Amino acid sequence: MNAKNLFDLSGRVAIITGGSVGLGRQMAGGLAEMGANLVLCARKKERCEQAAEELKQHGGRPLALACDVKNPDQIREVVEQTVSHFGRIDILINNAGTSWGAPVEEMRLEHWNRVIETNLTGTFLFSQAVGKFMVPQRRGKIINIASVAGIRGAPPEFPAIGYHASKGGVIAFTKDLACKWGMHNIQVNAIAPGWFPTHMSEVVIERNREAFLKKIPLGRFGGNHDLKGAAVFLASDASDFVTGHVLVVDGGQTA
Ligand SMILES: NC(=O)c1ccc[n+]([C@@H]2O[C@H](COP(=O)([O-])OP(=O)(O)OC[C@H]3O[C@@H](n4cnc5c(N)ncnc54)[C@H](OP(=O)(O)O)[C@@H]3O)[C@@H](O)[C@H]2O)c1
Repeated sequence: MNAKNLFDLSGRVAIITGGSVGLGRQMAGGLAEMGANLVLCARKKERCEQAAEELKQHGGRPLALACDVKNPDQIREVVEQTVSHFGRIDILINNAGTSWGAPVEEMRLEHWNRVIETNLTGTFLFSQAVGKFMVPQRRGKIINIASVAGIRGAPPEFPAIGYHASKGGVIAFTKDLACKWGMHNIQVNAIAPGWFPTHMSEVVIERNREAFLKKIPLGRFGGNHDLKGAAVFLASDASDFVTGHVLVVDGGQTA
């Protein structure tokens, strides 16, 4: 197959959790530009609708749905609506995520649980729900958004142990699901971004700008197009022989 065709996503159907803003919105843009039909879901439906409206310029028919990834019934509803609207699901990007900052000694169980349930359990529940359709269709791409925080620890001034543990869990989940579902021709990979200024990260980045930049060999933070290539690659036929991989996109921070 021609190399350009390997990356073509025309007619493919992708669900992107947390696709309304930030990195999810960026990856949604990348997939739409390559021809995919999108389903954007997050808790605030209006922001999904706004993103869907903007993405219509690429010619697809994006769907905006409300969903809390902590809620299995709402996940099932998104998956069923996707299939009834588009007739199939080819790609899932488990991107919805959250964090909570507190020193380990003071981290309250409810805050730990909220981070693990959103980042890790949400990834499991959504993968399980799309698997019901991907397994029988013998084709699918699951992309889990981990973080460099799932690969390394951080000093005490970055007190987010639940976030680190959840992202480490996402990486282990990715590798194990890749082993389990390879026989169904479903590729399961992760992307581990470094620092990208978004709603979630902007305060931490502002407080530590110079110190962070010193540790990033490329000397800058992630920008508005830096995740698109990784997402399109892992969503497309170009990655058909890649599974269980963690693609680090961090400007060299963990090199
Ligand atoms: N920015 C970075 O530097 C960075 C680095 C590494 C990894 N990441 C990861 O990248 C992903 C996106 O983060 P971001 O930086 O783009 O953050 P963001 O701008 O805060 O966006 C987070 C997205 O997740 C959605 N979300 C949060 N909780 C949800 C829930 N319970 N159910 C459904 N949707 C939920 C939000 O929408 P609602 O609030 O409407 O639900 C929003 O769409 C996260 O997994 C994050 O851990 C980010």
